[in-house]
Amino acid sequence: MTTTAGEQDVVDVLTTDHREAIQLVQQMRTADPERRRDMADQLIAELMRHSVAEEMYVYPAMREHLPDGDTAVQHDVEEHQELEESMKGLESLDSADPRFLEVLGQLEAVLRDHVQDEENDQFPQLRARVPHEQLVDMAAKVKTAKQVAPTRPHPGAPHSELFHKMVGPGVGMVDRLRDKLTGRSDNT
Ligand SMILES: [Fe+2]
Ligand SMILES: [Fe+2]
Repeated sequence: MTTTAGEQDVVDVLTTDHREAIQLVQQMRTADPERRRDMADQLIAELMRHSVAEEMYVYPAMREHLPDGDTAVQHDVEEHQELEESMKGLESLDSADPRFLEVLGQLEAVLRDHVQDEENDQFPQLRARVPHEQLVDMAAKVKTAKQVAPTRPHPGAPHSELFHKMVGPGVGMVDRLRDKLTGRSDNT
């Protein structure tokens, strides 16, 4: 199934995110520790934005339109949480510590499995069952959600809750302030 230029659907957007995240993980392995730290922070931010946006706009559509939607979403959300545990590990470990690459390996294994489930199973089903215009509309929503999503892992908090807190002085606000202070951009 193809889309015309300039009219990306949500599957295009999310699949690009997946490619970029996996590529970044691979580049991190050979990077020097200082660069690896920066790349880890970028990876964490991108995966957080991606997961929160999916949970807000894509997983509800999966629940609605896929025959096994509820089960698939439950599995996917659990994997997002597992990814977040690994991100927490990467955040706390020194990037020169050998354990850093171990945790990165754990993250990559979950990420690859999760990406495969979505791209081979759930995304094709979405394209088969949801009208194209609606998937294009979801692409815009996902892009907007990614701009305001929290960029730090919070394994204990459900992503939908995090998202709602962003409109007030909650977790997302703290992230944005901290990002400003550390010079980390929210909008890349
Ligand atoms: Fe995804
Ligand atoms: Fe996902």
